[in-house]
Amino acid sequence: MADTQKSATLTIGDDSYDLPIHSPTAGPDVLDIRKLYGQAGVFTYDPGFTSTASCDSTITYIDGGQGVLLHRGYPIDQLAEKSHYLEVCYLLLYGVLPTAAQLEEFESTITLHTMLHEQMQNFFRGFRRDAHPMAIMVGVVGAMSAFYHDSTDISDEHQREIASHRLIAKMPTIAAWAYKYSIGQPFVYPRNDLDYASNFLRMCFAVPAEDYEVNPILSRAMDRIFTLHADHEQNASTSTVRLASSSGANPFACIAAGIACLWGPAHGGANQACLEMLKEIGSVDRIPEFIARAKDKDDPFRLMGFGHRVYKNFDPRATVMKQSADEVLELLGVENNPVLQVAKELEKQALEDPYFAEKKLFPNVDFYSGIILEAMGFPTSMFTPIFALSRTVGWISQWKEMIADPQNKIGRPRQLYLGETARDYVDIEKR
Ligand code: ACO
Repeated sequence: MADTQKSATLTIGDDSYDLPIHSPTAGPDVLDIRKLYGQAGVFTYDPGFTSTASCDSTITYIDGGQGVLLHRGYPIDQLAEKSHYLEVCYLLLYGVLPTAAQLEEFESTITLHTMLHEQMQNFFRGFRRDAHPMAIMVGVVGAMSAFYHDSTDISDEHQREIASHRLIAKMPTIAAWAYKYSIGQPFVYPRNDLDYASNFLRMCFAVPAEDYEVNPILSRAMDRIFTLHADHEQNASTSTVRLASSSGANPFACIAAGIACLWGPAHGGANQACLEMLKEIGSVDRIPEFIARAKDKDDPFRLMGFGHRVYKNFDPRATVMKQSADEVLELLGVENNPVLQVAKELEKQALEDPYFAEKKLFPNVDFYSGIILEAMGFPTSMFTPIFALSRTVGWISQWKEMIADPQNKIGRPRQLYLGETARDYVDIEKR
């Protein structure tokens, strides 16, 4: 817990209460109200947690006003440029950048866990052929607790470690197999001689009749997408994982809960909505019409991929994503792709428009990610599974941090009750 040197005084009627203030290493001070109910008999009210810190954490820091995202102190743009996903996983999990030997050992551990228990194939095959890959992921990840009993005891640090490695290693296989199943193609087994991103691409796009040659530029772009989505502090799905875990649930059940939360269109589904919007706009000359609609209070239309609850400046991930989109589309020879042209011109016109400037609406990470994923050959139904795969390390890092925290207790919010007060039961014939 951060240092407490300041305090605030809360006055309710004739009574005053001192509330400690914790000063973080970065970001706004935090008022500690843990003893408030015991002392003053009142609750605080904050639906949507807009002003509530649910935990202390040392993993990720966001300054939405400045457009800053740090993992363990390192800026996301530096990590996206100089590092790679598995190194970022190590950083998130253990708090430091690995030495060469540590990284080699970590990568080899993850690689050795990429296969799924063979019987899990039966589990996949139990789904309807047209099941959404996210539905399959929620089910299969939850079912891992039935296949890997030796890593479900959360009081055992070693088992927690194995569960962490298994989840990071197997998630690409699960996501790729969910995809393969949904399109009626055979499952492709992981290959240990490929890096994490290349392995995922191959498991998605190879078929027994024809192998898939992994292009290093596409593999690098895939790795960047993983890196840019690796963690984002206490967002909805991460908070879901923490809440599920607070009851002592096993790690696979907790991560399945996180995947279920991420599935919602307000969270993981926005890149799909953005791509659909860009296609609907269709050509550059229609952009002013859509910008006018986004500004019209009587029209529910919003510019998808613009605006963010936390970022009131450029989403630092969007800048890297835009650069990746350029590289990937050029490589694929589709740099004149009309969707990309619309995206670039829309971004330009919106940023020049006073409406977006005044409301501090900037492109977010979803603005360009859908374009890259589609160009790589992924259907929109795979966008959120890829987000889930990438975010798994963030969920696990936060889960591990929480379990190791001696202050960890079951999450149990209070409520502002506005229902009926106590009344007597009325027999059915008298109603
Ligand atoms: N287009 C047009 N106007 C917008 C947009 C937008 N994309 N986003 C916000 N506004 C306007 C709102 O109408 C509101 O105007 P008002 O003050 O005149 O009423 C003002 O900006 C503030 O908007 P809120 O919805 O109150 O801001 P909030 O922080 O709650 O919402 C959100 C953030 C949900 C992301 C919003 O900007 C939005 O809907 N964006 C489009 C969807 C999107 O891209 N989501 C992805 C987010 S990133 C991620 O999840 C990984």
